[in-house]
Amino acid sequence: MLNYDDEIKKIETDYFGNAFNNLSNFKVLVKEKNGVLKAYLIYQVVFDEAEIISVFVKEEFRKMGLATELINELKESCKTIFLDVASNNCNAYNLYLKLGFKEYNKRLKYYSDNSDAILMKWSC
Ligand SMILES: CC(C)(COP(=O)(O)OP(=O)(O)OC[C@H]1O[C@@H](n2cnc3c(N)ncnc32)[C@H](O)[C@@H]1OP(=O)(O)O)[C@@H](O)C(=O)NCCC(=O)NCCS
Repeated sequence: MLNYDDEIKKIETDYFGNAFNNLSNFKVLVKEKNGVLKAYLIYQVVFDEAEIISVFVKEEFRKMGLATELINELKESCKTIFLDVASNNCNAYNLYLKLGFKEYNKRLKYYSDNSDAILMKWSC
């Protein structure tokens, strides 16, 4: 499969303001077709727990179930998944709720735009 690291790093910087020098410290699931990246999920694993670092679906491929597929793939390989989501990101919050994630804490004014981080957890 093609390596999409450079494209993913650019999206992370442009969209989220995250600077990844090296993605090799992380695991990445991708959805692509014929060399076109559609969506990706970046995560870390410690024992059987995973932490989602980022999920992104390109605009033209949204609302087609790709983020759901990526998260369901991750669920197959671990027992617990943690993530944080900005309180003003309704689309992502709805996605995680629909996939069975539960809120367990909140970090006030955590993000650079002063929005809160909602901490969520899924367990099988
Ligand atoms: C959030 C995001 C990852 C969702 O990806 P997606 O592939 O479009 O999501 P899915 O098609 O799997 O949608 C699953 C559920 O998520 C929720 N959802 C997704 N997009 C939504 C929208 N525009 N409005 C409301 N709910 C939405 C819905 O509950 C949806 O279920 P439904 O289709 O039965 O209504 C995508 O919009 C995205 O990349 N956004 C920009 C980056 C981002 O915010 N990432 C998350 C950071 S925490």
